[in-house]
Amino acid sequence: MQQLFGSLLGLLLASIAVLLGFFPPPALGLKVAYNNAWIEGTPLAWTNKNMYKTDTATFVSGGVASIGGTADIGGNAETQGLKQYATHKNYRLIYVIVEVAYRLVANKAAGINTLADLRGKRVGTMPGTSAEVFVRTLLASAGVNQGDYTQVSGNVCMRAPCGANTFPSQLKAKQIDAFGIWETAVELGIEAIGEANAAVFQNASLYREIYSLYATADSLKDAATRNKIVHYVKALNQTLDVFRNEPDKVYATVGSAIGVDVPVLKNVWADHAWGPGSLGEDLVDYLVREEQYLSKADKRSPISRADLAKFIDSSVYEDAKKL
Ligand SMILES: *[C@@H]1O[C@H](CO)[C@@H](O)[C@H](O)[C@H]1NC(C)=O
Ligand SMILES: *[C@@H]1O[C@H](CO)[C@@H](O)[C@H](O)[C@H]1NC(C)=O
Repeated sequence: MQQLFGSLLGLLLASIAVLLGFFPPPALGLKVAYNNAWIEGTPLAWTNKNMYKTDTATFVSGGVASIGGTADIGGNAETQGLKQYATHKNYRLIYVIVEVAYRLVANKAAGINTLADLRGKRVGTMPGTSAEVFVRTLLASAGVNQGDYTQVSGNVCMRAPCGANTFPSQLKAKQIDAFGIWETAVELGIEAIGEANAAVFQNASLYREIYSLYATADSLKDAATRNKIVHYVKALNQTLDVFRNEPDKVYATVGSAIGVDVPVLKNVWADHAWGPGSLGEDLVDYLVREEQYLSKADKRSPISRADLAKFIDSSVYEDAKKL
């Protein structure tokens, strides 16, 4: 009797301890890392809030670099993916969220009507980012190589009025003659100098941002985590159906999430090809080409084609199709 009472008391105390939160419940849910200031990350926010029902998905500030520690999955441009993969061969690109043909805007008043006219000019972009890759690749296609123009650093502006140290203001003040970066800064640059004065260049086959979702091979090997990630990819894919086909449903949410005015957002929407993007050989080819450039810029040996093929793991997407 005393023994029974003792074990009942033990059970009771253990239950109270759990109820009071002395023992944390097992960790649930996915941690999703991205930059919540850019358009490209907004499908992840939408998925977390509206589409992923398997358990919970929570935002972590970061990107692909976070998947080794603070997050399970992360969103970032392919440029950051490649930079990380160079030293983390267990990272995997599992889904293409959006492809963005970046634009470069130049001031016609500075005598710029073709890309070749950028020789000797001051061109704004952000060092070490996908935007710098875009600007250099675009200019090189017209024979304007590094050293043939002056690269100027500055900041992005997402909503007018733009600060003095941002590219649209620098363009208007003639401190730079052109700049190339992600939206909505280029749109605001065009509006700052007036559409009639703006020469706009864009070439998706030369360079487009391939903003993707990443996970580690280790977490994809863990059955429980993999199952959640597969369900997340399915939910994300449903989000992108809405972004592609029913943007009127998302403009207001996206605009307020990143601090962009809806009319400006609508003007740049068509430059965003919402996923699912290809995970096939064409993506490998594209990464091989970008890696030639990146490895030189980062002063390291290029990742081999075989390793780049391993970087892309389409099996999660294939599993998501079966759900
Ligand atoms: C885009 O770049 C490719 C490769 O250099 C070139 O063949 C093509 O003509 C360019 N397209 C435009 C619209 O300039
Ligand atoms: C993702 O969406 C596209 C377009 O609606 C569809 O064709 C594809 O089957 C979907 N993939 C998954 C994994 O649900």
